[in-house]
Amino acid sequence: MNASGFDCLARSYRALEFILAGSMMQRARTAHLASLAGPVGRVLMLGEGPGRLLERVLQDFPDAVVTVVDQSAVMLQQARRRLGSFPEVLDRVEWIQVDLRHWVFPVHRYDLVSTPFFLDCFRQDELETLVPQITRSLKPGAYWLLADFQIPVNPAWQRWRATLLHHAMYAFFRRVTGLSASHWVDPDILLTRARMKRTRRQLFGAGLIRSDCWVRDGC
Ligand SMILES: C[S@@+](CC[C@H](N)C(=O)[O-])C[C@H]1O[C@@H](n2cnc3c(N)ncnc32)[C@H](O)[C@@H]1O
Repeated sequence: MNASGFDCLARSYRALEFILAGSMMQRARTAHLASLAGPVGRVLMLGEGPGRLLERVLQDFPDAVVTVVDQSAVMLQQARRRLGSFPEVLDRVEWIQVDLRHWVFPVHRYDLVSTPFFLDCFRQDELETLVPQITRSLKPGAYWLLADFQIPVNPAWQRWRATLLHHAMYAFFRRVTGLSASHWVDPDILLTRARMKRTRRQLFGAGLIRSDCWVRDGC
């Protein structure tokens, strides 16, 4: 994967999102925000892209301090620009431009991590390293909000429809961004192995998109 790939896509990403899924992706990103209980002090937003979830998190959790990690400089610029209409929140945001595969994760630091439409950028072997690192960065009892285009097992028509869409999406993203992943890896087993417990799941578009809330075990 190369940073310039997602840089190229950043300016048209919002339009692409609208064409592909209308409002569904934003509904999936934000589906569980209202259900989060307890203080949300430190938030880690991984592969946040142009910042639509970031804007909501800053509004919904006025005391939260947010670390945004993305390898694309242009995506980070877009996210920063999105906050232009309420610049007072900028003090609460730390921006880190890095390839997450080379980032040293803090340990037991965050109350909430988000990875909307991000884990699907990675191969199985990359996820096997990343998922435990992300989990270790969470405090016990912390939340992980996760949304992705998925391939449902049943019914067959949903599985075939999603399979076709994934073929098209991966062909596009691999060509434009140099993405190394060639197919979607269901992260459920890896999260469970990392001692995360799923507390909520909501489906959108008749099973095209899943939005999950997981909680870190070990309180
Ligand atoms: C498909 S976009 C998703 C953007 C956003 N999270 C959303 O909800 O639409 C993937 C994002 O992850 C970032 N990204 C991809 N691979 C990355 C990596 N290895 N390290 C850090 N960021 C990465 C891209 O720059 C891009 O902003």
